[in-house]
Amino acid sequence: MPKVLKCDPTSISFDDDGRPHITSQYTLASLRLASRHLHDLQPVAFPTETVYGLAAIALNAEAASRIFSIKGRPTDNPLIVHVSSQSMLHSLLLPDFTIPPSYQTLINAFWPGPLTLLFPTDITKIPSIITANHSTVAIRMPSHPVARALIAVSNAPLAAPSANSSGKPSPTRAEHVFRDLNGKVGLILDGGPCDIGLESTVLDGLHHDGNIRILRPGGITVEQIEEALRLAHFGHPIPRVLVHRRDFVDDAIEQAPTTPGMKYRHYSPAIPVTLLRATSHPPAGANSISPSTLLASLKSSTVAKPPPKVGLLAPSESVLAKKLLQDPVIQWHRYTLGSLSEMSIIAQRLFDGLLSLEQEGVDLILIEEVPEENEGLAIMNRVKKAASETCWIV
Ligand code: TXA
Ligand code: MG
Repeated sequence: MPKVLKCDPTSISFDDDGRPHITSQYTLASLRLASRHLHDLQPVAFPTETVYGLAAIALNAEAASRIFSIKGRPTDNPLIVHVSSQSMLHSLLLPDFTIPPSYQTLINAFWPGPLTLLFPTDITKIPSIITANHSTVAIRMPSHPVARALIAVSNAPLAAPSANSSGKPSPTRAEHVFRDLNGKVGLILDGGPCDIGLESTVLDGLHHDGNIRILRPGGITVEQIEEALRLAHFGHPIPRVLVHRRDFVDDAIEQAPTTPGMKYRHYSPAIPVTLLRATSHPPAGANSISPSTLLASLKSSTVAKPPPKVGLLAPSESVLAKKLLQDPVIQWHRYTLGSLSEMSIIAQRLFDGLLSLEQEGVDLILIEEVPEENEGLAIMNRVKKAASETCWIV
């Protein structure tokens, strides 16, 4: 059984150089023990502001390789390296690399925080297992005090994917990690539930055209990035912000899928998930049905023994959810995501919703779509990967 140690994020503060000041002796002792595990090459689960991560010393290939075996992660999917200070960032970069003005703007605006940037990798320092032999390395500075303090106390950059078995929803609470990785990880730091609830935005600003490419939408929205670049007006023209698969398709990513896991089914609980899109104009050839046909098909589904236990993840104001929940035969397990007027709460609750419904033993999960703007872009990116099927409800 893994040891679970509570850490109090409110007892940790940082000076301008990223050095931590920790007032809780218990939290300090937990962080020191975690650091010892890491230097003994034992991965440690820890909270970040996005999701829980599974950390290993980034500059040690053997430590990093253990992450892949614990998660069952394909080795062609590279890891993010986490730093606690700007000087730690610079220690990882190629000596002749100059940080582009767009990156400096984004670092000033969003670090520490849920934004991951790609940098040309220094193969003399960063093991190839971290980058999966790509020419870039992904780096971020987390804002969760426990995450940042763990890196600083360990005095080492930490490679960390989300602390889930590969393909499962990412954990947003220590108990999610405990349930998923029980027996595979020796130590879990518990810093409470994650604020953001979805992984960081992965961004590539290294192309010669100067434009910013969002490889994975996440905790920092496209709108926030555009606003920061506009406000900084560091030169002309202001870089465009392009979203993968919406504004561009990167052939290299499609062929050797890295971000965001093109090749792998992602974020899926062990049970079938169906995405519900309520619309009066379904696309041509789409699988479109009425709410009553949907209910009938749930009742005759071979996935469930009658009466079917159906998990429903929908925003609080959902008209469709109200209609469906009136059906008296189905055993409904409703998990309210929150209101469409507070999309950050929906983001925070999505993975917890999937994992809680799975834990409650439902036969299948229905998730209703949200508009793909602001946090909605990252929410729908994860929902589409979790869903094995889409139903257009007319
Ligand atoms: O919020 C987060 O980013 C969390 C916390 C723990 O920091 N971490 C996380 O890691 O989500 P992971 O491994 O689950 O997702 C990392 C994503 C993957 O989609 C991976 O393909 C991409 O980042 N990635 C890493 N290095 C890359 C690189 N050099 N080029 C392109 N994509 C990269
Ligand atoms: Mg992950």
